[in-house]
Amino acid sequence: MKARQNTCIVGLTWGDEAKGKIVDLLAPEHDVVVRYNGGNNAGHTVVFGGETYKLHLVPSGLFHEGVTCVIGGGVVVDPKALLDEIARHEPIAKGLRRRLLVSSRAHTIWPWHAKLEALSEKHLGKGKIGTTLRGIGPAYADKANRVHAIRMGEFLRPDHLRVKVERIVEAKNLAFQKVFGEAPLDARAVWAEYEGYGTALAPMVADTTAYLHRALAQGKRILFEGAQGTLLDIDHGTYPYVTSSSASAAGIWPGTGIPGRAVGEILGVVKAYTTRVGEGPFPTELKDALGDQIREQGHEYGTTTGRPRRCGWLDTFAIRYSARLNDLDGIAITLLDVLSGLPDLKICTGYTVDGRPLEEFPDDPAVLERAKPVLETLQPWSENISGARQLKDLPRAARRYVKRVEETVGAPVRIISVGPDRAQTIIRR
Ligand code: IMP
Repeated sequence: MKARQNTCIVGLTWGDEAKGKIVDLLAPEHDVVVRYNGGNNAGHTVVFGGETYKLHLVPSGLFHEGVTCVIGGGVVVDPKALLDEIARHEPIAKGLRRRLLVSSRAHTIWPWHAKLEALSEKHLGKGKIGTTLRGIGPAYADKANRVHAIRMGEFLRPDHLRVKVERIVEAKNLAFQKVFGEAPLDARAVWAEYEGYGTALAPMVADTTAYLHRALAQGKRILFEGAQGTLLDIDHGTYPYVTSSSASAAGIWPGTGIPGRAVGEILGVVKAYTTRVGEGPFPTELKDALGDQIREQGHEYGTTTGRPRRCGWLDTFAIRYSARLNDLDGIAITLLDVLSGLPDLKICTGYTVDGRPLEEFPDDPAVLERAKPVLETLQPWSENISGARQLKDLPRAARRYVKRVEETVGAPVRIISVGPDRAQTIIRR
């Protein structure tokens, strides 16, 4: 296996690190881009030629004609959302239907998943998780539970699937009616709609594990695209305020069938500050005017839900934890330009609880809730840096900021993004 030519792009915090831009940037150096986790809860943005493209399910390599895009078995696919996305982007993403493969092993999202999630979040009230309401959690729950799960490959056997959908809807309706006092779903109406989606997607459904193994054997270069971020990982994130999939690089193996040893370079993406959407502890959160200023300067509103994102200082204590988990080779810092003009600039280098410093990132959400950040003050800068293309174009204070991130996280910064466009990037080899 030629591991070093394969790359993983993974978020190091709570998602929204601008991974889409980095994947788009590195895609031309690869033959295949594969998504390994999550679903259309993700929002990946790619900007070029003055246009902005928002992606949720299709891998962010789609705009490069020579690249094959794979949706791996670890992803949960909302068939309607996927078809909408293909239709929206195929005028620019030439030949997309030919270049897109969807794993027959990927599980699917149906109307009962979103309905159940909305009811569950409503009933939880203040204790809600603050999900994207795309049905992601219930779809992964059905996957783990097996009896009511549907995989993409089943669309290739519509007679079997029609009967299965009827059986599942019958069971789900018991819960909707008896537990929640809600109206039942109509199995026939659901099937009438989804049969068409299945027919449209069937030519793209494939054994992507076999495809990827062949690609590896042929020496093709593979880029693994993570969705969400390490702190939202179901096993290693800030549980229970996480997503339902393996959002760290640990998700590659189960999510694609490619063994970890073949992954190669692991590049972790962080914003120059930290954001989080939904509920859950966030030690460096700024609930003041400075937090509002970062939100406005960074346009920090959700790509998927439009929700305002919570903003705070860069948390290098949490990132150091993520770096270790992912066996990081390098860092990409995005949105560095957003920090220009802030009156104050800090990074978090550790946490204390009851005045005592913590040695490790907490495994207990109750401890994380009480953690106070240890903040280090750095020199702010006022210059507009969006035109910088080399490290030396940055003001001294910005270079110092980048250096401090390397020192505190313990990994080299390989890419610095100073604006949304492909061109607004500093690459350090
Ligand atoms: P779910 O993935 O919709 O179940 O939501 C679970 C948690 O993950 C919530 O806090 C969401 O806001 C968060 N989340 C899910 N997807 C993303 C993402 O792509 N970016 C940032 N946060 C996300």
